[in-house]
Amino acid sequence: MFHIRAEVSADISAVEHLNDLGFGTDRKGRTVWRLRQGPVADGLAFIADDPMDGRVLGTIRFWQVDVGKDVSAVLLGPLAVCPTMQGQGIGRALVSHGLQAARDGGWDICLVSGEPSYYTPFGFEAAPPYGFEMPGPLKAGWLQVRDLRVGALDDLPRRAKRPIRPWRLVRGAGDVTALRAAG
Ligand SMILES: CC(C)(COP(=O)(O)OP(=O)(O)OC[C@H]1O[C@@H](n2cnc3c(N)ncnc32)[C@H](O)[C@@H]1OP(=O)(O)O)[C@@H](O)C(=O)NCCC(=O)NCCS
Repeated sequence: MFHIRAEVSADISAVEHLNDLGFGTDRKGRTVWRLRQGPVADGLAFIADDPMDGRVLGTIRFWQVDVGKDVSAVLLGPLAVCPTMQGQGIGRALVSHGLQAARDGGWDICLVSGEPSYYTPFGFEAAPPYGFEMPGPLKAGWLQVRDLRVGALDDLPRRAKRPIRPWRLVRGAGDVTALRAAG
């Protein structure tokens, strides 16, 4: 049993702990983590918690990334679930909830770096055919994209190289601005 809600500053240490468990304490030097330099995209950080005791069981965050001036993009992740609670649908629920929130927030597309077998059921497909490339080494097939606005991917001219860059503009983000210091 779990419940999904928006992340608040009081969750930061629990989120860091889950990400340490899921990705290791050396994760921030890796390619995709270097794209997560600004604050979390407005309103796109969620927690799964235990409704009985409030324990944080899972976390998902999205980051605004720069893929060119005509298309707004978020990068899904990190996504991590407490090792003892995996396999109960928490990860999938966090992804579904997060994608819906991103759609509602008016974002055009969502990118992810992750296992294709996990993300294909959410509508993700290989990103390189759309011209996207990750600025650094990445496992083959891991960079994926899906539209959030219908037709957003069709609006992209194919084969034009679009390196994904960190979004540096700091946006007023209320509670989540504190995440920058933690990250
Ligand atoms: C990946 C992760 C978030 C999944 O969370 P979860 O709550 O266990 O996921 P769900 O219960 O919603 O889904 C479980 C399904 O995902 C599959 N799955 C779990 N991890 C997977 C992975 N790395 N690659 C592909 N499939 C995976 C399981 O085999 C299971 O499949 P099934 O339903 O067909 O049996 C969790 O395993 C985790 O925190 N891993 C460490 C961090 C990580 O790898 N994050 C994702 C980066 S791509």
